[in-house]
Formats: sequence, structure tokens, C-alpha cells
Amino acid sequence: MSAAAPEPKANMGQPVPRYDAREKVTGVARYASDQQVSQPAFAFLVTSAIARGDITSIDERGAREVPGVLDIFTHRNTDDLTQTKYGQQGGGASTSIQGLGPEIRHDGQIVAMVVADTFENAREAAYRLKIGYSEATPSASFESAGTEMKDANGIMSVATQAKEWLSTGDVEDALSKAAVTVDAEYSTPTQHHNPIELFTTTCSWQGDKLTIYEPSQFVFGLKNAVAERIDVAPDNIHVVSPYVGGAFGSKAQMTPRTGLVAYAARKVGRPVKLVATRDQGYTISTYRAETRHHVRLGSDRDGRLVAYSHEGFEITSRPDSYSVKGTEETAHLYSFGAVATKVNVVHADRNTPGFMRSPPVVPYVYALESALDELAVKLRMDPVELRRKNDGMKDSFGKEWSSRSLMTCYDQAAEAFGWSKRNPEPGSMRDGEWLVGWGCATAVYPTHNAASAARVSLRSTGEALVQIAVHDIGTGAYTVIGQLVASELGVPVEKVRVELGDTLLPAGPVAGGSVTTAAAGSAVLKACAQIRTRLIGGASSGDGAPLAGVPDGQIRLREGRAVAQDGRSEELAKLFERLGQNQIEEYAEFVPAGASSNAMERLYQGKPTFVGGSNGEKLMYSLGAEFVEVRVNQRTREVRCPRAIGAFAAGRILNTRTTHSQLMGGMIWGIASALHEKTELDEKRARYVNDNIAEYLIPVNADIRDIDIILVPEIDNEVNPVGVKGLGELANVGTAAAVANAVYHATGIRIRDLPVRIEALL
Ligand code: MOS
Repeated sequence: MSAAAPEPKANMGQPVPRYDAREKVTGVARYASDQQVSQPAFAFLVTSAIARGDITSIDERGAREVPGVLDIFTHRNTDDLTQTKYGQQGGGASTSIQGLGPEIRHDGQIVAMVVADTFENAREAAYRLKIGYSEATPSASFESAGTEMKDANGIMSVATQAKEWLSTGDVEDALSKAAVTVDAEYSTPTQHHNPIELFTTTCSWQGDKLTIYEPSQFVFGLKNAVAERIDVAPDNIHVVSPYVGGAFGSKAQMTPRTGLVAYAARKVGRPVKLVATRDQGYTISTYRAETRHHVRLGSDRDGRLVAYSHEGFEITSRPDSYSVKGTEETAHLYSFGAVATKVNVVHADRNTPGFMRSPPVVPYVYALESALDELAVKLRMDPVELRRKNDGMKDSFGKEWSSRSLMTCYDQAAEAFGWSKRNPEPGSMRDGEWLVGWGCATAVYPTHNAASAARVSLRSTGEALVQIAVHDIGTGAYTVIGQLVASELGVPVEKVRVELGDTLLPAGPVAGGSVTTAAAGSAVLKACAQIRTRLIGGASSGDGAPLAGVPDGQIRLREGRAVAQDGRSEELAKLFERLGQNQIEEYAEFVPAGASSNAMERLYQGKPTFVGGSNGEKLMYSLGAEFVEVRVNQRTREVRCPRAIGAFAAGRILNTRTTHSQLMGGMIWGIASALHEKTELDEKRARYVNDNIAEYLIPVNADIRDIDIILVPEIDNEVNPVGVKGLGELANVGTAAAVANAVYHATGIRIRDLPVRIEALL
């Protein structure tokens, strides 16, 4: 495996090591539950033992006998909590199932919280709490009777506005006339986030002011959502979240625990600390719901597509219509000819699903890229050539791409992989007792942008400080934001301090939709430009100024100096001294084109506005091509993935190290999605049964061998002022299809239901 940071090519920045690396590996970084508060009490959650029904009795006697118990919160004494609006209704809550009962909507719903002087006492009391239920038969999944299916047209999908179904031309007619067709059904399983940092919340009141320590992808969202829940003014709430130990979407919205801990801390008059257990995390937060797909493709004899029909089905909870609606992205991916799309949500007795890395594209691109491979087989055409045939700068709706380097990615990855040596015949490539299969698929993710503010200051010493309430969820945000400031102000990157993840800072958008670098970066550029204007204005005027009279446009900030084109310069320290200042500070607000004029005001209220992807005048997406080799053992049928190569184009790359790490991590997740991950459901009880990292399968080091990442240079000045496309959610898309396609090539067995398991290959 090549773990080294790639050498920067055109339009790529230096592989600066992570800003927060030392803090993290030495344990200096304080995660939410590490924060010291005085005299904390400890909370332990009690979650529902049934998936549907009502609480009929609560016996607290045994629990109250445990020493140190301070209070027990149930539906009986928390009915003055206000319902926070659910995400799709424009609110900040991850679910509308927020109450502790008496109605039970899903297994593992929070029904009580015990607060005690120690964690152990709280846990002991929680175990002794006796809750009686009247139980109704739950409906857990697509298989169950009693679920309710609804057309998801018109409901809001992930990070976009509600849209009508995308369709163009007459798909049925085109399919009936097509020379070659594919008609197939695919499915993807439930997945859970399992961030290493558990779902924790610590709340501390000082009078009527509340401080919340919680790992969050959106502190302004959390602040406003909790304010609504406990009925206090948002500005009395301070959310602190400088480090997040994994999130993937699970920490983007307020989950029900936070308001409860804030409420409890106010009642018991002490700070309260909650660390939910791993298994509780499966039901008190969100997850990626299982999906089904009916895909039909039609093409002419030469492989030119004439029709694409895609109907999706997604599981959701009873009250909420969460839906990822990935057809809104896939419908633009190729020149399809006629297109018809539709998505249905199926309401079951489950907790509400939510954002999970690349929500819309992961399941829908798996289905489409598998169907394309099936079509290539029918056409006896190379799958790369099939994609080339249907590649174009315009989609079937006549919309143009701002930039599209898909085939460059395919060509570079194919070359590095040795694809030309592939014998297309299934089962034809062998190595001893191993059947060898090679497969490929497209990775794609919409390039979003959002409003963001930023504050930047530059001192006479050349030290700079940048502050924005965005988040580094392991992505490298600290590092690339620091790099941007350094290059814009002409100071060394080591001299830039970066402060993120705190509601006392200027607001930034949710660390979701791979938007952080675009949004925060654009605000940083603006603030730095304001600083430059002031400094350069000072450099070119005033008595004794070495650059007096030089037009401002000919002065740059470089290596701690103001430098004129002719080489004359003035040291920053001298310049500041002449200006009679120690530092210059600038606050800037960036609102992207296409966002509403009140986008900044809304952001401070916890409501980010997303633009981009397929929503604007042009199609804006990052793209990639992924190739994998699988080996299927002839006798045991075990599947191994010895090598994978991905080539990706995502506009300007600010840091090849953090980018490489994001893309490599994405492909590892993609392999996990293909071969390992699935939350198993007990249909009868509507309960997740492998709710721990021992039984929820993810790859270990031995499962992951060579992963090579190729960064394809791309310039796109239309996407945003920084020129970056999002890439955090790019590389895990398409991998599962590439693996399944490779398994077909190795065995001749087409896997349409993920994950690929031995039993399907026997
Ligand atoms: Mo990501 S699922 O957009 O947090």
C-alpha cells in the first residue's frame, strides 16, 4: 500500500502534515467527554425493550435504592420539553421521535435517563428501573406486513430542495425499441456509523447560561435546536466541539439525548455528563437505511444509452420521511437518452435514518454502476468503453457540466491497473486455487457550497489567527484552512493558528455534504483580501514608506513582507509599526451565488442553505474511476480484495496528504460496504442484533491490501472562489459496484444484494 502523500501536480497544494496530528496522537486534544466540569453528575440511558406499543408502568423503587441516585427522568416528568422541528421540516432535529414515551415508535428509543453521583451508580440504577409495556407487533423491513409505502415526491432530500422527479423523454417507448436492455433489482443493507468517539453530551449551567460539550458536525445547528427543545434563548447556549472522533453524518443534527441532558443538568443543579454505550448508539442516533432498486437500461448495439429508468425504495421511521433520493444525482451522470426516476419511502417501526457518508449516491450509484456492468456484458463491450460512449459535457436534460474529468480518471486508473490485460470472459483468469476478477465503477459526489463567515487576524509578528465554527471530523479542515490563510497572507503555515468548532466563533455550515473547504475557504479568502487591502494600502502610502507610490495592485504579501513587483519590500513588523497597529483583524461573510440573501442570518439560526450539485445552472460534481481486483477461492468461496486503484478529479487540491487520506479511507469504506458491513435485523422484534463492533463487520488491516490513489489535475473556477470540489464523500462511492462487478468477472455470478457474502457464491 502506498501510504505516502502524493507529489503535488498542477493546481495542487503541499502535503502539509495535519495541524492537529500532534494533539491527537499525544492525547492533548480534548474530546467532548474529556472536558473538565466541576462536580459532574453522570447519566445513563434506559432504552425501550420493544419496538412498538406503550409504556404501561414505571417502577422506580429498585433504582431509587441505589446510593447516589440524584434523579430519574421519564416521560412522566419531562413533558415540559418542547418538540424540536425535524430536519425535513426545516428544523435541527435528527428525528421527530423525541419524547420518552408513553408511545414507543422503535426498539431502543430512549425511555428514561438516570442521573447519579457516579457512572457506575447511574448504570446500576438504570438496570434496576422496571418498565412495563403493552406490546404491538412491529413491522421492521421491506418484508414485513404493516409497513406503509409512500411516493417520496416533493419531500426534501439530503441537503437539497424538494424537487419533482427527474424525467425526460419516453422511457417505456425507448426501452421497447432498445436493441439491448437490462432489467434488474438491487439492494443495499442497513449500515451504522460506529464512530470511535461515542455519542456523548456534557451540559453545564452557569445561571441561565448553558455550555454544551458534544461532538458535533454543526455547532450552530445544535445550539439552536437545543434552544428550541428546552425553551431558552439561543444566545444563552454555548456549544464547544473542537475535535470530533468520527461522525460521518451521525453528528450533524440534534439527536434526542442532548436536550434531555441539558434539562437534567438544570434540574439537578450540577453539570451532567452522558456517554451513551456503543449499542445505544445504534438507536439513539441515525443510520443508513436499507434500499431497493429497480433499474432498467436500454442501449443501441454500439452501447449508446437510450433509456434509464430507476425506481428506489428506502426504509424510514413511522413519522419521518427521511429519504436520500439518489436518483437526483444519478440521473445526470451520463448521457442516458430518456430518463424516468421515482423514489418511495417505506415507513416501518424503526428509528429515523439519517445522513451517512455520501447518502444519496452510495446506494443509487451501486445500483446504476452494477446495471451498466450487466449491460456491458450483454453488449460484449469493455465496461470502460461503455462509459466513454455515454460520456459528455451535457446530460440528458441539456444541462452542462462545469468540468468533467471522468474519462481522464478512467484512463489513468486503467493504465495504472493494467486493465488492458483483462480477459473479459468470466472465470477465465486464475491464480492457483483463486479465481481472479477485475471490475470497475464510477465514483461521483455533488459539489455543494454554503454560506460561511470567518474572522482572520494578522499580527505584526507575522502570526495569524483564523476562526470559524466549522468542524474537522477527521477530514483535515484545520490543516487546509491554515494553509489557505498562510498562502493568502504570505506567512509560514506554522504561524497560523486555527480555531474551529465553537459557537463563540463566526458561523460556518454543517460539516456535511463535503462543503467545508468550499464554504469556509471562500469566507477565508474574503477576510484575507480585506486584510491585504488595508495592509497594502498602508504600505503604498505614508511618509518614509519604502513602497510609497507603488500602485496597490503591484504589491503582494510574501514571506512576511509587503513586496512590490520591482523587488522593493517592507517587513510586516515595520509596516505595522508605521501604521501604529499591532494587528489587523477582519470579519467576512461569504454567501454563494444562488443562495438566498438571508442565508447568513439563517446560518446563525442553525439553518445552512446548500447550493451546487445539480441545483444550479451547471452540473457541479467531483468524479472518479475505481478499479478493483478480487480473488474468490474456488473451494471456500471467500472473497479477497488484494488491490484497488482509484483516480479522482475534484478541482483544486489544497493538500495532497489530507486528500490522499480522505480518498484512501473512502475506498476502504467502499470495500467494507461491498464485503463486510451490514446491520442485521431481528425481523420479529424490529431490533438490530449486531450492535457492537465485534459483530458489525468492518475490514481489519489484513483485509485491506494495496490501495493506490491517483490525483487527476483539474481546474474549475466556476464551482466557488477557492476552486475546490468536495471530496470527503467521493471515494466510498462506486467501490461496492466495482467489487461486485469484479466478483462477476471472477465467478460469472452476479451479486445484486450487498454485502457480497460467501453464501451467495456457493
Ligand atoms: Mo456527511 S453524511 O454529508 O455528514
